[in-house]
Amino acid sequence: MSKVIGSVSTSHVPAIGNAIAKRLQQDPYWKPFFDGFIPVREWLARNTPDVVVVVYNDHGLNFFLDKMPTFAIGAAASYGSEDEGWGIPTVPPLAGDVDLSWAIIEGVVKDEFDVTTCQEMLVDHAVTIPLQLLWPAGPPPVRIVPIAVNTVQHPLPSAARCLKFGQSIGRAIAAYGPALKILVLSTGGLSHQLEGGRAGFINPEFDALCLNALINDPEKLTGYTTHQIVELAGSQGSEVLNWIVGRGIVQGETREVLRNYHIPISNTASAVQVLEPV
Ligand code: DHB
Ligand code: FE
Repeated sequence: MSKVIGSVSTSHVPAIGNAIAKRLQQDPYWKPFFDGFIPVREWLARNTPDVVVVVYNDHGLNFFLDKMPTFAIGAAASYGSEDEGWGIPTVPPLAGDVDLSWAIIEGVVKDEFDVTTCQEMLVDHAVTIPLQLLWPAGPPPVRIVPIAVNTVQHPLPSAARCLKFGQSIGRAIAAYGPALKILVLSTGGLSHQLEGGRAGFINPEFDALCLNALINDPEKLTGYTTHQIVELAGSQGSEVLNWIVGRGIVQGETREVLRNYHIPISNTASAVQVLEPV
């Protein structure tokens, strides 16, 4: 049976892609951010996943406002990336795991999550940058299953719905026959707002509350309405919904292996958190 070995949740700011391309890892602005990934990579070197289930939101590359699925699951053998407008380098196509994708799709549909299935799918910075942070030396030595959550165009799925969706994905993985080691990679957040009068808004108190709750009390986050999440985390802080889905996938009790919180990176309160099932 397949097993979730843990989760890495991280911000996905496009400027990180440019910093990687320009090799700015030791630059004083970037160093505290990039250094946070050194222990993440050490953890990964000990845990060696076969497949990464990436929970993220698309930013207008694969879906635009005219057609916006609430939950979409990739079922492709490979995923190309393109720059949706930030000027960041693209990466070579990422290998998919078609059989696992369909096992997850079958499982969640059985649980009444009527997802959009994508046998062709482009992935944007929200997938490519976190993978580059985990495997900076080259193409990631894993297959991926991308799962896109609408954190962009309202109405968004509620935090409660996101946790249940993640738990359903987790059950599908646990019931999947092949003995794969699965890493959950949730991306986005934490608090940030890119536009309007509150552009630049971040909220370290709410971010800390989220990081703490995600360890063993994710239900606490399901008490917030979408409106409250936007108010507390900023209009793009709603990307924390991806982290809530990811936490649902891990299921059960977890142990926090590490976290790094650094503000700001671009307009974002950047965070990385690694959780392991106990
Ligand atoms: C920024 C953050 C994001 O999550 C994103 O998708 C784009 C830009 C930023 O802070 O610049
Ligand atoms: Fe984003």
